[in-house]
Amino acid sequence: MHTLLSAVQIQERVRALAGEIRLDHPGELHLVCVLKGAFVFLADLLRELPDTTTIDFVAISSYGKSTRSSGEVRLLKDLDTGLEGRDVVIVEDIVDTGLTLTYLQDILRARGPRSLKTACLLSKPSRRQVDVKVEYIGFTIEDKFVVGYGLDYAEHYRNLPYIGIVQQ
Ligand code: IMP
Ligand code: MG
Repeated sequence: MHTLLSAVQIQERVRALAGEIRLDHPGELHLVCVLKGAFVFLADLLRELPDTTTIDFVAISSYGKSTRSSGEVRLLKDLDTGLEGRDVVIVEDIVDTGLTLTYLQDILRARGPRSLKTACLLSKPSRRQVDVKVEYIGFTIEDKFVVGYGLDYAEHYRNLPYIGIVQQ
């Protein structure tokens, strides 16, 4: 495994992102974590945010890579609570084509949050198919398949404390 981003690099960047998010949200903040990949990022982010920060989880699945053009996603697990009038930040592991995130943003925006922003630990801009808005980006990376810090390859490697590139 080749290390792309070390645990220390990630820790420092997540702390800085939390600082930005705090400044933009002086009131109560609600985080929506996209399962499964973002759960480690959420845990670290949350611990840098105020006591009043609340969390919820959504699990989504793409309709398969062959139907990528539609970008349609299926909600495997919906939120436990509504978003009306709340200041919401979506917490996602990585934005690739941007299709999944665009679809999720539309679903959540329809639920009437006061504000809706998105935080992604990683971004692969060279892969983008739609111009999705992501207010907080941890690291911009090249088009390499990465694992660790919650991200998987066939459900493995989520445990790694760093982000690595699998040697094929
Ligand atoms: P997209 O932006 O709609 O193409 O989909 C992004 C999703 O694809 C992410 O939430 C990840 O689950 C997955 N994904 C994309 N690139 C990677 C990667 O390099 N490693 C692990 N998962 C990835
Ligand atoms: Mg994901």
